[in-house]
Amino acid sequence: MTQSPMPASDHPASDHIDAVLHETRVIAPSDAFRERARYSAEDYERLYRQSLDDPDTFWSGVAGELHWFKPWTQVLDWHPPHAQWFVGGQTNIAFNALDRNVARGLGDKRAIVWEGEDGEVRTYTYAELLREVRRAANALLDLGVQPGDRVTLYLPLVPEAAIAMLACARIGAVHSVVFGGFSVSALADRLNDAQSRVLITADAGQRRGALVNLKANADAAAALAPGLEKMLVVCRADCDAPMQEGRDVFWHDALNAASDDHEAAPLDSEHPLFILYTSGSTGKPKGVQHTTGGYMVGTYLTTQAVFDLRDDDVYWCTADVGWITGHSYSVYGPLLNGATVVMYEGAPNHPDWGRFWDIVQKHRVTILYTAPTAIRAIMRQGDELPAARDLSSLRLLGSVGEPINPEAWMWYWRTIGGGRCPVVDTWWQTETGSIMLTTLPGAHPSKPGSAGLPMFGIEPAIMTHTGEELGPDDGGLLVIKRPWPSMLRTVYGDDDRYRKSYWGEIEGVYFAGDGARRDADGYITVTGRVDDVLNVSGHRLGTMEIESALVAHPSVSEAAVVGRPDDVKGECVVAFVLPQGDRTIDPAELRAHVSREIGALARPDAIYVADALPKTRSGKIMRRFLRQIAAGKEIQGDTSTLEDPGVLDRIAATQPV
Ligand code: WTA
Repeated sequence: MTQSPMPASDHPASDHIDAVLHETRVIAPSDAFRERARYSAEDYERLYRQSLDDPDTFWSGVAGELHWFKPWTQVLDWHPPHAQWFVGGQTNIAFNALDRNVARGLGDKRAIVWEGEDGEVRTYTYAELLREVRRAANALLDLGVQPGDRVTLYLPLVPEAAIAMLACARIGAVHSVVFGGFSVSALADRLNDAQSRVLITADAGQRRGALVNLKANADAAAALAPGLEKMLVVCRADCDAPMQEGRDVFWHDALNAASDDHEAAPLDSEHPLFILYTSGSTGKPKGVQHTTGGYMVGTYLTTQAVFDLRDDDVYWCTADVGWITGHSYSVYGPLLNGATVVMYEGAPNHPDWGRFWDIVQKHRVTILYTAPTAIRAIMRQGDELPAARDLSSLRLLGSVGEPINPEAWMWYWRTIGGGRCPVVDTWWQTETGSIMLTTLPGAHPSKPGSAGLPMFGIEPAIMTHTGEELGPDDGGLLVIKRPWPSMLRTVYGDDDRYRKSYWGEIEGVYFAGDGARRDADGYITVTGRVDDVLNVSGHRLGTMEIESALVAHPSVSEAAVVGRPDDVKGECVVAFVLPQGDRTIDPAELRAHVSREIGALARPDAIYVADALPKTRSGKIMRRFLRQIAAGKEIQGDTSTLEDPGVLDRIAATQPV
C-alpha cells in the first residue's frame, strides 16, 4: 500500500485537486428549500454533537423508530476492530421495509416504479411488494435455503433483484449480488468464495437495445462452481433459456407454487445481511460483510436526512443493485423510509442521451441521485436534451461514487437543477455501508467539488500515515476515528484481511484508502484513492486484478496497470505489458481477454507494449512513473533507484495501442 500521505503530484487525482483548490464558489440552498427542509443548520449542530457526546442516546433514538422483535440491551460493543451494534436486539430489515410500512398505512403507496430499457413500466405498491417478497421467501425455503446460507444474485436491474434481496433478508439468508456486467470467471470466483448453493439469475438483460445472455454466463460459471446446486431463472426475455433438469427452476414457477403467507424471521442484530465483493489494492476482490441492525439503522437515517425525504417524493437512484449504492440507496434505505423508488434497467444513452430526462419527466422524479461519470457523459452532449424536457419536478440532486469536478457540479446544478435544487455530494464506500460525508441540503451551503461535513455519528480526521492529525488545508489520509452502525464487520472468510486493510494501516482508526483535505469550515474534499485501486466510471477496480488477468494470457509475461485521468470516466485503465518470448501481442485479443476474465469495465483504454518495466533493484514496479507516461507528462521524481532508468524513455517513446 502507498505510504505517502498525499497522492503524488502525478496521481490521477491531481487535476481534480488543482480544479478544486481554485474553486471558491459557495452555493446556499434557496429560502424555499431551506424553510421546508427536515434539518436546519442548528438541528445538524445539535444532533451531530449529541451523536458524538452521547452516542447511546442518539442511536437508540434512531433505531427506536424502526421495529424490533426484541429490544437491544447494549447499543455498542466495541472490541477493536470488531464492533457489534444493538447487541441482543432482534429485528428484520425486510419486515421494516415492507410489513412495517404496510402496517402504517402505506400499503397502497407505490414502492417500486420500474422502467425497462424498452419502455415497459411495472409498478409495485408496498402491499404488492410484500406479497411478492413473501412468496419469494417461501420459494427459497422450498429450495432448502437456511438462515446464514449465501445466495448469489446475478441479475439485470429488474424488480426481481430487489424482491430477491428482500426475500433473502426476510429468511436470514445472506445475499451476494454480482453485477450483471461481470464475466463468467468473476461470477465463478464469487460463487466459490461465498460457497453459494443457490444462484438467482435471468434469461437475459437488456442493454443498449441488445439482449445480454446472463443465463449462458451463469451456466458457464456453474460449471466452475462445484458447490452450486440450484438456479432460479427470472424471465426477462422470452423464457427460452436452456434449463438443466434438476438444477434450474423458473422464478415464476417457483413463486407461483409458493404460499404468500410468511412471517419474517426475527434475526439477531448482528446476523449477516449480505456480502458484496469489491476491489482492494492487493489480491482478489474481498467480500465485504454487512450485518442486519446497524446497516438498517444507518441506511434508514442517511436516506431520510441526506435526501430530505418527504411522503410525496419520487426518488430515483440510478445505481445498479450490483454496487453498494444500489443496495443502500436503490433498495434498503428508501424502502425503509416508505419512499416511492424509481428503477431503470438500461443504459443512459438508449435510445439517446436524453433518456434520464425522459424518465424524470415521465415519472415526475423529485430526487435524483447519480454518478459524476454519468453527469459528465451527458453534459458533453450539450444542453438541448435536458432543455427539451420538463425537469420542474426535481427538487434535490445527489452525486456519488467518485470526486465530482466543479465544472460538472455547476452544470448539474444549473442545467438539471435549474439553480433551484441543492446538490449533495456524498462520500462513502462499500465498506461504510451508508453515507459518511455530505452536506444536509437545507442546512448547509455547498462548495462544488467538496463532499462536506460528517454525517451523524461519524468522526473523520485527516492524518499522516504515522497517525498524526493534520490541520486545515493540509492534504493527508482520510480516516474515521470511531465505529459506526453500518460499517463492515469483516471480510468474508478472511478476518485477518479486515484487520490489516482497514484498521491496521494506521493504529486505532479506520483507513479509507482515500486522500482528503479539510478546510477551515470543516468541509472535507476527497481527492481520490491513494492506493492501487482505480475508479473507472465510479466502479472500483484493483490494478492487481487487471494485472493478473493480463498475465494469464499466453502472449503476456509481465504487466503493470495504472489509471489515467479521463474527462468522462474519471479514470481509465492503461496497461504496460511485456510479451512472452517472441510472441506478438494482439491488443484487440488482449482487451477481449480482460473482458472475459473480469468484465468489459476493466478493458484497458491504452496498451503499451514494452521490453521492460521500471523496477527498483528490489524488483518493485514504480507505477508512479508509469502514471506520468500514461498521462503524457514529463517524467518527474528521482529515477536513480531504478535498476534501468533508460526504460522510461523507451516506454515513453512507444505509441500505445
Ligand atoms: C470514491 C461507492 C469522492 C472514493 C459509494 C471511495 C468518492 C470509493 C465519492 C468507494 C465522493 C465515492 N467524492 N470520491 N463523493 N464517493 N468516492 O466502494 O475513492 O464503490 O473510496 O462505494 O469511491 O467506492 P465504492
